[in-house]
Amino acid sequence: IKCIGILTSGGDAPGMNAAIRAVTRTAIYNGFTVKGILRGYRGLVTNEIVDFHSSSVSNIIQLGGTILKTARCEEFKSVEGRQQAYENLKAAGIDALVVIGGDGSLSGANIFAQEHDIPIVGLPGTIDNDLGGTDATIGYDTALNTIMEAVDKLRDTASSHERLFFVEVMGHTAGYLALNGAIATGSEAAIIPEMDTEVDQLAELISQGFRKSKNSAIVIVAENPRTGGAMGLAERVKKEFPQYDARVTILGHIQRGGSPSAQDRILASRMGAMAIQAIMEGQRNVMIGIQNNELVYVPFSRAVRHNKSINRDYVNLVKILSM
Ligand code: F6P
Repeated sequence: IKCIGILTSGGDAPGMNAAIRAVTRTAIYNGFTVKGILRGYRGLVTNEIVDFHSSSVSNIIQLGGTILKTARCEEFKSVEGRQQAYENLKAAGIDALVVIGGDGSLSGANIFAQEHDIPIVGLPGTIDNDLGGTDATIGYDTALNTIMEAVDKLRDTASSHERLFFVEVMGHTAGYLALNGAIATGSEAAIIPEMDTEVDQLAELISQGFRKSKNSAIVIVAENPRTGGAMGLAERVKKEFPQYDARVTILGHIQRGGSPSAQDRILASRMGAMAIQAIMEGQRNVMIGIQNNELVYVPFSRAVRHNKSINRDYVNLVKILSM
């Protein structure tokens, strides 16, 4: 292996740039050449490939987003699209690939690696923290901090007006951001897809919040098209409990931006360097994960489409600490 290609795919996440930097510089340090593929898998299909040098990644560790750009690519979902992508890789002289992305992106990498002879190493880049075999993903900590700052601000106004707030956070189909966001902000409840919470249970939690001296209540709701998210929930609660002066805030894509936290920069740097180590060891079709602060190799098949279980102790903690 002489030349390593690198791309970011799917939803961006703070720390992706730190990972790009670590992959590039570790590769160059070990004598590889590096090529950047723009706009994720789309750039592979449309052949947007550029030479990368040490200076290509200068001054980016602190930047949110991804300098390589990213996309959600339909073409790569077809056999023909992936064939075109492989031909472009070969023509560019790329003989190993590092993919930074979430569940969809690593699922794509898994299929691509089964169809074509190219070693691929994945890095978990997503704010959702919904990949198997890893305690954390790059971008998750920063997004959690963004949620915390926003909810702290909402608490001020919720408290002044003695209101109930439903705050919707991202997470795709996982409740990590909602649950840990609730713990970090002392919210009264977290509504997560992993657990069914009925409206009357919720009303009980809310009234507990109102019994406290703060006289406000905040419910963090994980996005969930099935239930209508925070908007849907607020409608139902308002109908049954009109005594609450309820408001809804949807944090949206704000959660995906911003300068990465120290934790995400360090995680991305360690994982990026490890990706090159993996390639040198002859590993292929693995994601770099972190378990108990040790970096590990996780086969793609275990990393993706994995319903990582939610820790029930955390769910209880929200309840106990908000009483
Ligand atoms: O996977 C990251 C994520 O931000 C999810 O939390 C969210 O469901 C989705 O991406 C939003 O995607 P888009 O940026 O395409 O609207």
